[in-house]
Amino acid sequence: MTERPLVRMTGIGKRFGGVQACRDIDLTIAAGEVHALLGENGAGKSTLINILSGVITDYDGTIEVDGRPVSFGGPVDAQRAGIATIHQELDLVAGLSIAENMFLGREPRTRLGGVDIRRMRRQAAEHLRTLGADLDPRRLVGSLRVGEQQLVEIGRALSLDARVLIMDEPTAALADAEVERLFETIKELRRAGVGIVYISHRMAELEVIADRATVLRNGGLAGTVDPRTASRDEIIQLMVGRSVDALFGEGRNEPGKVLLDVRNLAVTPRRPTPGRTEPAGVDLTVRTGEIVGLAGLMGAGRTELLETLFGAGGSGRRSGQMTIDGRPYGPHGPRAALARGVAFVPEDRRGAGLMLEHSVAENVVLSALATLTTLGVVRRQAVRRTVAEQLTALAVKAASPAVAAATLSGGNQQKVVFAKQLLTQPRLLLLDEPTRGVDIGAKAEIYRLLHRLADAGMAILLASSELPELLSLCDRVVVLHRGRTVATLPRASATQQAILAAANGDDAKETR
Ligand SMILES: Nc1ncnc2c1ncn2[C@@H]1O[C@H](COP(=O)(O)OP(=O)(O)OP(=O)(O)O)[C@@H](O)[C@H]1O
Ligand SMILES: [Mg+2]
Repeated sequence: MTERPLVRMTGIGKRFGGVQACRDIDLTIAAGEVHALLGENGAGKSTLINILSGVITDYDGTIEVDGRPVSFGGPVDAQRAGIATIHQELDLVAGLSIAENMFLGREPRTRLGGVDIRRMRRQAAEHLRTLGADLDPRRLVGSLRVGEQQLVEIGRALSLDARVLIMDEPTAALADAEVERLFETIKELRRAGVGIVYISHRMAELEVIADRATVLRNGGLAGTVDPRTASRDEIIQLMVGRSVDALFGEGRNEPGKVLLDVRNLAVTPRRPTPGRTEPAGVDLTVRTGEIVGLAGLMGAGRTELLETLFGAGGSGRRSGQMTIDGRPYGPHGPRAALARGVAFVPEDRRGAGLMLEHSVAENVVLSALATLTTLGVVRRQAVRRTVAEQLTALAVKAASPAVAAATLSGGNQQKVVFAKQLLTQPRLLLLDEPTRGVDIGAKAEIYRLLHRLADAGMAILLASSELPELLSLCDRVVVLHRGRTVATLPRASATQQAILAAANGDDAKETR
């Protein structure tokens, strides 16, 4: 590139104890380009951008902005230099409103010096509308679903009017329609000369949006490619250093008898929570050995349904019928659900799934302590073996099982949540966006694992915003719209169009 880049990072290195997270990395960001950053879970992507965004201040190498060396003392310095970041793990304050979160620390002022609340709300609403999100800026962030929180985080970054915008998996929790809106926004920013760093594990997105892709492997630079001409295989080769076998395609066993039967399930909450879509007429069955997909737009009520099935949906009156194995089922809490062999991997790994300050090992075994305890004594040997087995099975990348879960990369945290639930040996496994933030190699591992579990007789109900994932993984797809089952599509008739049509509420089909 002849033009001087907006940002030039040279020889960047970072070590965490025994882990070399980044090693001698050079990266430039030009004005008006979308520069994708790729790599497996734990490759060092977030670390590199945490350095650029001033979150990590202690590192090797140099950073130049506009040809001038900079040394950020913290995120605010980076923002002042025109670098805005959407972090992988959302860092919003649950107890503050959307508008307060977006303008935290830089609230617009009235002439008298007070916070100009009305202007703040108006601007917040405008930024959200750009993204197609019709959210009341007065709402508390804690009441938002993960996807909505992600939109708030993106809106905040937009409001900074930055020249460099870093996006660490911005679409992980977004549904397809929101992704399209975001891409429109990104294209506008690109035309306006903003330099964009884009991290995503969704390969299809890169082909659409990225001008250039830099691939990291094990903390080092593996190569740079043009994502529009490079084949997926080439890119994956660079990422993992070998080719990944076909993601799917193994023959599946015939499903067995009905394990979970849900008829006309509805929940009337004691106090309605804005933004929640409670079940309002759900019909579905999951048989042993079957993988059933849950599709729907953001706000269709997929997460709320899974929570209800796990007894975690908050208080409210349930109506309709639920049975497991033909016996009535109506858990009053997760404990009751677990006792009936139901396990749940939630979408929000930081909130519900993980205890960040505890070790990886503790997180993994916690749910299975009962089976690893004899007469009240924890069998340490068994615990160590079980943890090691699970971490290997899921290829979790951690320095050791003793490190805090917080130190794992995002995708590896997701795998730990998964491992933890599997240890309860459930008969029915509920999964909410199980491969969110998981790299393509690990995704293949998880798909294979789900197939194995189903073949061994486990019933699996899985919500996903990624239609290709549902289509390739599931025996049937149940589509929700406003909390209701609007279609049940067997594998043969489940196409992208059919699912989308149903999800949008275009004439309901009943093909069960
Ligand atoms: N604060 C920390 N303490 C210790 N180790 C860390 C810390 N942050 C990151 N690491 C380690 O550095 C390596 C790179 O992590 P990083 O988060 O940069 O990966 P990533 O490429 O963003 O992965 P993902 O796709 O899963 O988000 C990992 O091995 C991770 O465990
Ligand atoms: Mg990351």
